[in-house]
Amino acid sequence: MCGIVGYIGSKSALNILLEGLTNLEYRGYDSAGVAVSVNGQVELYKAEGKLQNLKDVVALKKEHVEKSTIGIGHIRWATHGAPTTVNAHPHSCNCGKVAVVHNGIIENYKELRERLEKNGCTFRSQTDTETVAHLVASKFAQTKDLTEAVRLATKEIEGAYALCVIHQDVKDTIVATRRNAPLLVGIGENEYYLASDVPAIIQHTKKAMYIDDNQIVTLTPNSMKYIDANKNILEPKIEHLPWEPVALSKMGYKHFMLKEIHEQPDVVRNVLSGKLRAMDENITLNEVTLNKDKLKELNRIQIVACGTSLHAAMIGKYIIEDFCGIPVDVEPASEFIYRRTITDEKTLVIGVSQSGETADTITAVRQAKALGSHILIVTNRPDSTMAREADSLIPVNAGIEVSVAATKSYMAQVLSFYLLAIYMAEVKGKNNLEKLKHELIILPQKIEEILAHKEEIQACAKKFANSKDFIFIARGINFPTALEGALKLKEISYINATGYTAGELKHGPIAMLDESMPVLSILMLGKVYEKILSNSEEAKARNARMIALTNSTDKKLEDLFESIIRVPEVDEMLSPALAIVPLQLLAYYIAEFLGKDVDQPRNLAKSVTVE
Ligand code: F6R
Repeated sequence: MCGIVGYIGSKSALNILLEGLTNLEYRGYDSAGVAVSVNGQVELYKAEGKLQNLKDVVALKKEHVEKSTIGIGHIRWATHGAPTTVNAHPHSCNCGKVAVVHNGIIENYKELRERLEKNGCTFRSQTDTETVAHLVASKFAQTKDLTEAVRLATKEIEGAYALCVIHQDVKDTIVATRRNAPLLVGIGENEYYLASDVPAIIQHTKKAMYIDDNQIVTLTPNSMKYIDANKNILEPKIEHLPWEPVALSKMGYKHFMLKEIHEQPDVVRNVLSGKLRAMDENITLNEVTLNKDKLKELNRIQIVACGTSLHAAMIGKYIIEDFCGIPVDVEPASEFIYRRTITDEKTLVIGVSQSGETADTITAVRQAKALGSHILIVTNRPDSTMAREADSLIPVNAGIEVSVAATKSYMAQVLSFYLLAIYMAEVKGKNNLEKLKHELIILPQKIEEILAHKEEIQACAKKFANSKDFIFIARGINFPTALEGALKLKEISYINATGYTAGELKHGPIAMLDESMPVLSILMLGKVYEKILSNSEEAKARNARMIALTNSTDKKLEDLFESIIRVPEVDEMLSPALAIVPLQLLAYYIAEFLGKDVDQPRNLAKSVTVE
């Protein structure tokens, strides 16, 4: 979603801001802007659409704007008001001396706006953010102190925010603060950076400090003043950022999504490393502070997540129930938070999130925490807001994921659930999981085998790329795979794709079938193989165009299916980790064939920070 970059130092701020915003582009946005201070004047430059439009706007005054050594920048994903230039950040006040960029939502902006308008403020945009600019300006008029103006303004603001503010009358200063939206300060030599996420600044510094809720940072080129909401001075906690700038390069692949799909064998190795050493050794999960006695006491698990992470959670339910016999509920976090939920201190609540910043999931885990549940967070971002809510943490180690469509982070989440389920089963005394552990160890080679035959999937994609709709069917442990395959396809190709349990087909969806409808059957050898096969026969009898994704070598499949995507043999319990790879590739190649913007699909954001 939205992204923030700020710079104060002796270099030209403009290039740093534009480069930082470019590195946040993957998060999804629809307009962009920067505010810089040139010759003592605060100047705003904004444009709707892609960042290139903003670059074109500033290029007209490049020499002039490049003189600035202080600035704030923003990419906006519209929530309040259309994605227009006027609604793009930064926003300003009546006299134009203040510039504000903001991530999050000001919930009481209507009341604030009414009051400010009565006091003579003229609003130019429909955004909630503009209220902050006017509010800070009015507090500054009273206090003549920018830090104090921001502090007083935030006392009147309800909602979530990461804010960076500059003021024309306070030279060489940026004030920044946050509540329920991430913001960090990057530290250089006589210079500071601000960012809502690490990729914006990682090429400049690895030394950083995360700002916590309600804390305020005042930066000049040579100083950082750090206070809490009651003006107490705080000691900065400087951290080393564990990211490499190279993670943001496509490394020769056409898209980040394709690169990230190809990284999955190594992602699996990373996730297993140090935790699963040999098939005859118990799993060790150092990160899980969930103590073993507590685990034995649990009578229920509740998992909350959204989107792709929800599909990983559904696989988690299947395997934890199977291996451990503990009942597991999985619910979209966005539903969980709006009803009476029955969680208590005997419920383990697991929040799953790639970004760790998904607003619905954060709210869900906070609600469960308030009811006394132990909170376990499975995330790719141990530095995220959600990770900070955790009693126990499983960092999934997928590395930074740039493509909006999640692929390798899903693989890492699924693998983390296998480790967790086996770990819990072993704590409960179960000891017949050697075969599965062996399968896990050799999984990376099997994924590599699939990737080595990707041309076959590409050919299949070409054949079906012009379909208007797509149905994915599966049963049992691969039902979430069908949902995830369909989600990937619709996200990046905009084809209407739906996943069904194969048994449900005849209870309604079968009415949709005719010669124009592709039905992809996930046919993994095991308990439900024959059942799905007969559901596929039913679909074929209605003239659907049949595709099989299978590890069966049965020749008879060739009569039933127009296309067959083969994957290596695998234990049915582990098959979701293998079956998803061709589906990711199928979605990728269809979108690529249709010429879609694969890495930044329309309307989507990499981290969804609004409920
Ligand atoms: C799909 C996708 C989204 C996210 C969802 C939750 O490719 O990326 O469906 O999975 O928005 O995001 P996280 O996992 O960051 O909580």
